[in-house]
Amino acid sequence: MKDLRADFPLLTRHPEIVYLDSACTSLKPQAVLEAERAYYAEFGACAARSSHSLGRQAGEHAEKAREQVSRFVGAHSHELIWTRNATEGLNLVACGLDYSKRRQVVTTEMEHHSVLLPLLRLREEGRIELEILPADSEGQVPLARWQPAIGRSTALVVTHSLSNVTGTGQPVRELAKLAHDAGALLCVDGAQGVPHQRTDFGRDKIDFLCFSAHKMLGPNGIGALVVSPSQQSRLRPLLAGGGTARSVSLQKVEQADGILRFEAGIQHYAGMLGFAAACAYLQRLGMDEVERQGRELGARLDEGILSAGGRIYGPGSGPSGLRTFNLPKAKPHDLGLLLDQRHIAVRSGYFCAQPALNALGAGGGAVRASTYVYNTDGDISRFCDELSRLAPLYS
Ligand code: ALA
Repeated sequence: MKDLRADFPLLTRHPEIVYLDSACTSLKPQAVLEAERAYYAEFGACAARSSHSLGRQAGEHAEKAREQVSRFVGAHSHELIWTRNATEGLNLVACGLDYSKRRQVVTTEMEHHSVLLPLLRLREEGRIELEILPADSEGQVPLARWQPAIGRSTALVVTHSLSNVTGTGQPVRELAKLAHDAGALLCVDGAQGVPHQRTDFGRDKIDFLCFSAHKMLGPNGIGALVVSPSQQSRLRPLLAGGGTARSVSLQKVEQADGILRFEAGIQHYAGMLGFAAACAYLQRLGMDEVERQGRELGARLDEGILSAGGRIYGPGSGPSGLRTFNLPKAKPHDLGLLLDQRHIAVRSGYFCAQPALNALGAGGGAVRASTYVYNTDGDISRFCDELSRLAPLYS
C-alpha cells in the first residue's frame, strides 16, 4: 500500500504521531471531511421531507450515500437502515425481536459489551434464555462448540466477524447455515470486520449486519444496520417519531414502509455523505489490499511484541493489524502512558470487552495496538523500537 499519510489532515498536522488505536476509532481522510462540509455548505436541508430544491438535493445525496454504503457490504439500499453506530443496531436487533415462540439466544464470551449488555439485560428481565459459549485459550470458538448449542429453541445467534481483542473472527458463513438450518437468525457485529475485510451480506446470508462509520475512516455518529425486507417486518423499531409513519390520527397510525419505519427524526445527513466518501476511499484502495496490509502489519507487530518479551492474546494472523498484549510486570495503563510520551497512541484497559479479556487470562487488562490503512512500516518500526526500549524497565 502506498503511503497515505498526506490524505489525513491529523497526520500532516502531527507528523510525530504514530496512531495505533484504530480499533477504537479511525482517523478521517480529507475526502470525508470535505463530504461532511459540503452537506452543510451547499444544501444543508432536511432530506425526504422538504420539497424545496435544497431539500431535494439533500434527499438525492442521502439516497446516493445509502446506495454506496450498502453496495460496500454486498447489500441493496432498501436493506440499509441508518443508525448512530453498531451499538444502536445491535440493541435494535436484540430488543426488537419477538421471543414468544423461541426464547434462546446464543453468543460467545468473546463479544464486545455492545453485544453482551443488551442480551444480559434481556436475560435479567426474563425475556430470553442466553447461552454464552466459552472460547478456547486463544479466544476462538470452534464450530464444534456452536453446533450443539443452536437448536429448535434458538431465536438468534449473535457474534462478531472480527474481534476487537484478538483481531480474528468467527466463521460467519458457516454460522448462518447452522442458524438457518435450525430456523434461527444470525446477527453479525461487523464493527471491526467491515473496516478490515471484504464483507458480503448477500453471499454470506447474514440476517442482520451492524457496523459503524467511524471505525472505517467515516464520521462519528453514523452507522448502519443491514437487514433484508422479510426480517425488517419482524423487528420492532426502537424509536417512533417524525418520518416513521405514513399517516397519523389520534385513533390510528399507519407505519411507513420498510427501512423508513426505523429512521425516526431528522437524520445525520452530513454523516451519511461522509460515510459514503469513506466507503469510496476504501473501495479505491481495494478491500483485498486493505486486508493484505493489515495482515502484514500484524505480523510485524507480532515480531516486535514477542522480541520485547511480550505476551500476545489470541492466535495472531487475523486480517486486521491488531494485537492485544502485555509485557510481564507492566501495568497496561502505565505502558500506554509511556508509549504516549513517545507519541505512540495505543489503547490500554478492557476495550469494552471485559469477559473476553478474562477468558484470555488478561483479567487485569492489556495493551492494544491496532493499525489501519494510513499506518506505514516506519510506524511499526517506531512502535517496536520504543517497546524494546521500555521492556527492560520491567525486567
Ligand atoms: N470498541 C472500541 C474499542 O475496541 C471502543 O476500543
